Amino acid sequence: MENSKATHALVVYESIYGNTHEVANAVAEGLRESVDAVVVRAADVQRENLAGIALIVAGGPTHGHGLSRPQLREAGVKGAVSAGEEVDPGAEGPWLREWLTSLDPRTAWATSFDTRYDAPELLTGHASKGIMRKLEQKGLRRLAEPESFPVTGQNQLLPGELERARVWGRTLGHKLQQAAPSSVRPSYGS
Ligand SMILES: Cc1cc2nc3c(=O)[nH]c(=O)nc-3n(C[C@H](O)[C@H](O)[C@H](O)COP(=O)(O)O)c2cc1C
Repeated sequence: MENSKATHALVVYESIYGNTHEVANAVAEGLRESVDAVVVRAADVQRENLAGIALIVAGGPTHGHGLSRPQLREAGVKGAVSAGEEVDPGAEGPWLREWLTSLDPRTAWATSFDTRYDAPELLTGHASKGIMRKLEQKGLRRLAEPESFPVTGQNQLLPGELERARVWGRTLGHKLQQAAPSSVRPSYGS
């Protein structure tokens, strides 16, 4: 039966400093309370990660008020290296923007998240809405509104944000269980 596959979720992320990676892991923990979920960085997504997928949750850091572009990410990686910061594995890319461009159109549910500075959205911008737009352009349907997880000026996730990410993941899992059987037929292509 299709049902076991219909609850398969992929959390895909890009990250330089590790905040978005940590949020991705926490979202997947919440999802796993009710559905199967794997976490894969954008550079490493394989065809088998997408086979039978019912939900894609895609997240990235906010760079230049939106979804990162090559120049900004190179500047970010260089900045992290020169500051002696540990760079998240795979930070060289390819990243989410390229992955979203290469994604084949499909029928599945989707949502998005970002990390960004803890300041009014008007000042910070957000990557998550641009990510969501790109997912919808590929035919994916919005399961939940894009979500942001703020970091301090010192680039640390605010206290409680990982727990909030787990709770968000749990909510997504429940929504998916309610939505998947009647409203969406998962695609079994790549
Ligand atoms: C090159 C660069 C540009 C950034 N631009 C923004 C921005 O426009 N708005 C914002 O809120 N945060 C911005 N940030 C902060 C990051 O969104 C934030 O530190 C994020 O948590 C980093 O995620 P990561 O740890 O997964 O790399 C920027 C960071 C870098 C390195």
